[in-house]
Amino acid sequence: MKDAAPATAPETFYLKDYKPFGFEVETVELTFKLAPNSTRVLSKIRFSPKDNAADPRFFLHGEALKLISAKIDGAPVTPELIAGGLICDTPGTPFTWEAEVEIDPAANTALEGLYMSSGMYCTQCEAEGFRKITYYPDRPDVMSTFSVRIEGDETVLLSNGNPTGSGEGWAEWHDPWPKPAYLFALVAGDLVNHPDRFTTRSGKDVELNIWVRPGDEGKCAFGMEALKKSMKWDEDVYGREYDLDIFNIVAVDDFNMGAMENKGLNIFNSSCVLASPETSTDANFERIEAIIAHEYFHNWTGNRITCRDWFQLCLKEGLTVFRDAQFTADMRSEPVKRIEDVIALRARQFPEDNGPLAHPPRPEQFQEINNFYTATVYEKGAEVIGMLKRLVGDDNYDKALDLYFDRHDGQACTIEDWLRVFEDATGRDLSQFKLWYSQAGTPRVKVSEDYADGSYSLTFEQSTPPTPGQPDKAPRVIPLAVGLLATNGDELRATEVLELTEAKQSFTFDGLASKPVPSILREFSAPVILERETTNAERAFLLAHDTDPFNRWEAGNALATETRVTMVTEGAAPDGAYLDALEKLVRDDTLDPAFRALVLSPPSQSEIAQTLHDRGVTPDPQMIYDAAETFAQTLAQQLETSLPRLYAATTVDGPYQPDANGAGLRALNGRILSLLTRLDGGEQAARQYQAADNMTQQYAALAALMKAENGEKQSQAFFDQWQNDRLVMDKWFALQVACAAPDAAAKVATDLTRHALFDMKNPNRFRAVMGALAGNHAGFHHASGAGYQLLAENLIALDNLNPQTTARMCAAFQTWKRYDSARQALIRVELERILATEGLSRDTHEMVSRILQ
Ligand code: PHE
Ligand code: ZN
Repeated sequence: MKDAAPATAPETFYLKDYKPFGFEVETVELTFKLAPNSTRVLSKIRFSPKDNAADPRFFLHGEALKLISAKIDGAPVTPELIAGGLICDTPGTPFTWEAEVEIDPAANTALEGLYMSSGMYCTQCEAEGFRKITYYPDRPDVMSTFSVRIEGDETVLLSNGNPTGSGEGWAEWHDPWPKPAYLFALVAGDLVNHPDRFTTRSGKDVELNIWVRPGDEGKCAFGMEALKKSMKWDEDVYGREYDLDIFNIVAVDDFNMGAMENKGLNIFNSSCVLASPETSTDANFERIEAIIAHEYFHNWTGNRITCRDWFQLCLKEGLTVFRDAQFTADMRSEPVKRIEDVIALRARQFPEDNGPLAHPPRPEQFQEINNFYTATVYEKGAEVIGMLKRLVGDDNYDKALDLYFDRHDGQACTIEDWLRVFEDATGRDLSQFKLWYSQAGTPRVKVSEDYADGSYSLTFEQSTPPTPGQPDKAPRVIPLAVGLLATNGDELRATEVLELTEAKQSFTFDGLASKPVPSILREFSAPVILERETTNAERAFLLAHDTDPFNRWEAGNALATETRVTMVTEGAAPDGAYLDALEKLVRDDTLDPAFRALVLSPPSQSEIAQTLHDRGVTPDPQMIYDAAETFAQTLAQQLETSLPRLYAATTVDGPYQPDANGAGLRALNGRILSLLTRLDGGEQAARQYQAADNMTQQYAALAALMKAENGEKQSQAFFDQWQNDRLVMDKWFALQVACAAPDAAAKVATDLTRHALFDMKNPNRFRAVMGALAGNHAGFHHASGAGYQLLAENLIALDNLNPQTTARMCAAFQTWKRYDSARQALIRVELERILATEGLSRDTHEMVSRILQ
């Protein structure tokens, strides 16, 4: 076998090796002379050595740069060019560094640094992209003010901060707020804007713009409203005001991630900002509102206070995700948002935390930082903040946050700084809590109960399985929100937060006339796996009566999981009591339709596979698929007589509005349509497709028809209608693969990669096809191995062009050890094939090696 290791082993970076940079950067002046293949970047940077800087030589990062000239204090110098940058002698006193470099934005398919997308120039510098623009100390703890001059023929020339001048073919910008290079941005293109204004609470007038390609003007209004709501919310809830005269958002088609919080110039994947009723679903609207808020909130949590180094990434990301979740809960429904977030956490973070890629929210080592923009850093990072808030209480949380902003404004901080403000504001010792930042893995909490003489006790035992590099785990602080119910559904004890701090601990409730029914981990108060022996009867009771909406949903989710597990392991029929409970619930008009839609949404097949694996059963993806189909068919039959009435009752009349109420009704209506389609062969769905005047209903109808293998006509019509709209076409590509039967998924995906509109270089399109393949559980894991093979081939092909997106998508293989040895062998072949690829990127090399370990 070929040796898989690259010629030189990739360097590993460690948190413990942190050293400050030896120089202050006082000012940065940049001039860009734009040309697609030969952009010139002139930099003029004022450095001054720190007192402790013994070494007068300095190192600047630089990658894929052609150095034209370099000067120190006006005199030419010849720096030593080394891998990853340059080294140069400096005078030992303050000096001015000047360099001119040439770069090739048109050839930049990695979408990092300065690149071109649909004819416009744009940048992406987080985490380490600025070094592809010019030589610079490209690390987040080096902060400076930037002045930028852009020379180009484009009509719109944008950078960070405030505009300071412009003329024919040029524009100048100045950002007064010191920032790290990863927040630098530049955009140049023939763009059009959707303008607005916002007055801050201290009366400052701010110009707002969303910049798009001509033709997309009609898709900006919703994003603009979301931006204004976010600005107001951050003032009202966190007391944070905007701090520049102008705030620009730009939509670009080719982008590796969702969006980027560059100071005063947020750059968005067009899929995360452009919205219209005709082209976007309710889910798109909700996501766009959340991402706009997220990027805006970064202005304080990320930009004004940034990270000392990339190990601290969750300092800004965990906090900002937590803030955007609070925002969405306020704008829409708090319980619904919580349920959605827990579904996402279990779908994306739990597999990471319980597999070979497990890492703590603050990792201690990496080879490629781009591989650590993970569900653990973002979503678990946010969960950790939610626990902290619950432990200290809302008022103390506010106090701590005020102190954080006061104390650390303008600084590059660490998790230690973050926890210290909580300790100082509350007097609480958080040393045990800090384990949440350093220990990987999802804790298991085993619950047992005891009742005697009016006294009820709950005993909890916590343990966390080993993760890579962390065989043993210490007990953590786990806040467990618990309530007690009487058997008639009355609440005997309101929610109380029990603090589990030991490996095993009991809590007693006195004065209870009879044994209560416990409702544990309300609101999902900690990201743990609860293990408790209970009955389906008790779950059904909680589904009907729990006063905590999250746990009500959770009880239904547990029933859904149990019934599928017994269907798979015992060949049992769907649980009748559960079907009855669902029927009752779906007809209960006193319940929020969005909540009912969530209760009707089945657990993912991947999650069922994980549950089986956890119980010592090797999951068979085809059997899990069959059980899901049987269950849905049985439910449809059980509801047969009420489905038409339910469908009519949940149909939203009048013009489409993307608000939470309408979206909730449409979500429920979509669930009902999918059940109805199992009985009427698609008659109603075809009518809905025909009549739909918004994407939510058009898409729901098309999905139902395609699932029933009766949507060819509509699929063609959809294509004809939307072939010139890239974002809608992404939906079309993804839906073909998502709806394909297990034995057809790889073939469907293969054909789509040969479609004229498939474009490897566009991450959205690549993800539409390959992400949908990985998400089609039984299709991806089909016993033939065709799914594995197709994904591997495409990852190998993409790695050359775009390492970052390739590496992220390798995670589709992270759950491979769940499956039988034949599937494992097939996957191993593909992983080894990827690893053996000549010239494989550092990104993909790291991911595949970790998955294989
Ligand atoms: N910092 C961005 C966010 O969370 C995400 C991002 C990371 C975008 C790296 C691009 C590159 O909002
Ligand atoms: Zn973020």
